[in-house]
Amino acid sequence: MTNLQLNREGKLKHFLSIEGLDKELLTEILDTAESFAGMSAQKVKKVPLLRGKTIVNLFFENSTRTRTTFELAASRLSADVVSINIATSATSKGESLLDTIRNLEAMHADMFVVRHAISGAAHFIAQNTAAHISVINAGDGQHAHPTQAMLDMFTIRQHKQDFKQLTVAIIGDILHSRVARSQIQALNTLETKEIRVIAPKTLLPSHVESMGVTAFSDIEEGLIDSDVIIMLRLQKERMTSAFLPSEREYFKCFGLTEERLNMAKPDAIVMHPGPINRGVEIESSIADGAQSVILQQVSNGIAVRMAIMAMTMQSSGDNHD
Ligand code: CP
Repeated sequence: MTNLQLNREGKLKHFLSIEGLDKELLTEILDTAESFAGMSAQKVKKVPLLRGKTIVNLFFENSTRTRTTFELAASRLSADVVSINIATSATSKGESLLDTIRNLEAMHADMFVVRHAISGAAHFIAQNTAAHISVINAGDGQHAHPTQAMLDMFTIRQHKQDFKQLTVAIIGDILHSRVARSQIQALNTLETKEIRVIAPKTLLPSHVESMGVTAFSDIEEGLIDSDVIIMLRLQKERMTSAFLPSEREYFKCFGLTEERLNMAKPDAIVMHPGPINRGVEIESSIADGAQSVILQQVSNGIAVRMAIMAMTMQSSGDNHD
């Protein structure tokens, strides 16, 4: 089966999902991001790699971290960046997604960065846009958030190096989380020793083990000897019925407290893709504590998104299969 994300030479043309990408390609993204990571400390934070290119951010869902770091990443690559405010765009007058895309193509866009509440929206645009345009998925429904997963892998590699030695615990609303889905795919592709998911049964997908993880419904048991702890937010906006008795009860059973953190290895890192809900999934002292790398994840988002934009644009001259 052809992979829409790759061109004929196997280079990244779109970045829609971790699924279908091999370890070599994920490692190339991480290595490329490494080369951009030092730029934030430099006086001139720009390279001319995407000079003359036009990048359009299309965020149909709210975002703070992803949208801003994509804008900064594009600007540091010297691209022209336009972020469409969907609330004030012609979408609110009934314009279809495809018509919006056609109009942006007519303005000579080279890349679309897309966040949408519907799973598959970025794939749909990639399938229906002009051949020279690259599409990057900035989060689609419950399906995938691949750039978040890659910045998380980058942050883990900064602290832990060898994925083959790691036990990673992902805690929270696995069922509704596009971040968890992409993280699990990336961790498996990078040959992580053990991936654990910890959640109430109502917030785990059925047959979750088929994703290559071990499921726990006891947080303390699941945290034992973990190297990396990834906390997730309750995605209340995607819950169609009552999955939990209350947030208070959830924190009592699944919140990360100092006591529970002690079950993990002493040098375990604590991660969260954000936005965090203090006192719901994580104790404030841990979110701000010495083991937290939550804000490093945000900073790393710039370098990782620069890498993905640069790689996809480099192969944009070739047609994909
Ligand atoms: N992690 C993440 O996707 O955050 P935003 O919703 O703020 O972009």
